[in-house]
Order: sequence, then structure tokens, then C-alpha cells
Amino acid sequence: MSNILKEQINSVEQLKRTFSNFKRKEKTALSNYIPDPTKHTKYVENGITSAYKFDAGIFLTFDLGYMVDVIYMTKSKDSLMNCLEIIQEDAKKPLVVEHVFREGRDEQLGIPTKLLRRMSRVGVFEKPLPSRFAEQATYEDIPELLDIFSQYFDPYTERIPDVEELKRLIGMDGIRIIREKEDIIGMVVFEKSVGNLHLRYWWVSSSHRNKGIGADLLKAYFNVGFDCKRQFLWVFSDNTNAIDKYRHYGFEFDGTADEIFVI
Ligand SMILES: CC(C)(COP(=O)(O)OP(=O)(O)OC[C@H]1O[C@@H](n2cnc3c(N)ncnc32)[C@H](O)[C@@H]1OP(=O)(O)O)[C@@H](O)C(=O)NCCC(=O)NCCS
Repeated sequence: MSNILKEQINSVEQLKRTFSNFKRKEKTALSNYIPDPTKHTKYVENGITSAYKFDAGIFLTFDLGYMVDVIYMTKSKDSLMNCLEIIQEDAKKPLVVEHVFREGRDEQLGIPTKLLRRMSRVGVFEKPLPSRFAEQATYEDIPELLDIFSQYFDPYTERIPDVEELKRLIGMDGIRIIREKEDIIGMVVFEKSVGNLHLRYWWVSSSHRNKGIGADLLKAYFNVGFDCKRQFLWVFSDNTNAIDKYRHYGFEFDGTADEIFVI
């Protein structure tokens, strides 16, 4: 830790400044920084944000308790990897680092723990698709949804939403569920922004798959965002089951990918 400096970040302004100062010096810096005011404000306000400053790069870390989410800006790929090792020794918990790139055009950082590929489709539907069972999730469903996320999703590579995030999504009609008796057996989670419909999670309990439950949920997703011109999602490159189904609905790989490293 001799030639690095670690400091607490107390405002989003300070966070932005930290990167812009480095960028001014290193015009060709390698970075995964994308301004995300909602997320960054939350992390800064929760007091979990630090900056590690090296000669070769700046790293912002968000300590989520079980893992540390990392944003970087470095001079090169080699300095990135070297600095991450040092941060990992200091943090003493898994670091999760993402790198978005254009397939076939940009250099990859290495062999990732998981590779996400983006799939998109363009075009509105002329009439609503028949969704018969999917219902809007409510705040009362949050404990059960959290339980499903903790049982069936990987906390390091799948960015599991917390209570606050679920409330926000429910508030914007972004979660549809299907129940059998008392239990949730399927869910679709999405976010609508101007012209874009981002599918974030699509899940059916394993004993109910291949019976049309997923189809019903996906149709509800398309209907809520019927006026969006573009729908997109990120899928693990080895999830052939989901990829086949997305293709069935007209999604195709659009050339953008995201390597996730759990270090
Ligand atoms: C992906 C998942 C949600 C699909 O749910 P499901 O209930 O099994 O899906 P369905 O049986 O309703 O099939 C969905 C559609 O794909 C079609 N389909 C089924 N098998 C297919 C195949 N091999 N190729 C192409 N289309 C296929 C179905 O006919 C249906 O289309 P329809 O609306 O025209 O009838 C479910 O497999 C799952 O939870 N997997 C684990 C989580 C996951 O991988 N989620 C996606 C992560 S990005």
C-alpha cells in the first residue's frame, strides 16, 4: 500500500471529479466508468464508496458487504490487473469488475468469470400479445421475490436487486409475476426508458418450465412496453436455453458484450 492512497468518497461530485482529473492527464485511459446518478448517489450516501489512487489508475470501490463492486480508470490493461490485485489484498473480499466491449472490434481484458452478451430486437407490436396469468407485483411480494433472488441467482454476476431497488421497480410497474396457489412460480423484471425496454430478469421455477409460463410473462413484458421501439437484455453466453427462446421472439446478438471478473 506504499504508493497508493485510499480515501472515502462523500459526494457524487467528488466521485466525478476523481475521474475527470485522471482523464485530463491520461487522454487514452481505459475505463468502465459510466455516470449512474441514482446508483452512485445511493452508494455515496450509504458511506460505502472509496477511491484507491495509484499513479497508474483510479479505482472507485463500492463495498456491498459480501463483495466489492469496482469502477476503474487506468493507463493500460496491465496496470488495471496489477492494481486490482493490490485492492483485493486490502479489501479481503471478492472484487467484481465489468468491462463492456464491442465483439470482434475491441480488445478483451482476459478470460472472464462470466461473459454476458447483449441481445436486442427492434419494432413495436401492432396489437397486445395475449398474457393471461401474469399479474403486477406489489410491495407485499418483496420478501418472496428476495427469497427467489437469493436462492436462484448468483449475487456476484447477476446484480441482485435489494429491497429499495425492488420498491422502485414495482413503483414503475416493472415486475410481473405468476402464482400457483400461494407461491410465485415465475417472474419478469424490466425497466422502461424513453424508447427502450430493458428486460432485466426472466425466471420460471424449474418444475414449471417449458409449459408456457415464461411465454406468458414475456408477453406481459412486451405489452407494458408496447410503445418502446427497442427491447434489449443481457444473457450469459452459455445460456443456450434462454438464447433459443429470445431468438424465437426476434432478439438477436447486437455485438455488445460484457466480461465480468470475480477476483
Ligand atoms: C428462460 C425461462 C424463463 C423460460 O421459461 P419457460 O416457462 O420454460 O418458457 P416457455 O416454455 O414459456 O417458452 C417460451 C417460448 O419459447 C418457445 N420455445 C421453447 N423452446 C424453444 C426452443 N428450443 N427454441 C426456440 N423457442 C422455444 C416456446 O414455444 C415459447 O414461445 P411461444 O410464446 O410462441 O409459445 C426458464 O427456462 C428459466 O427460468 N430459466 C432459468 C433462468 C434464465 O435462464 N433466465 C433467462 C436469463 S437472461
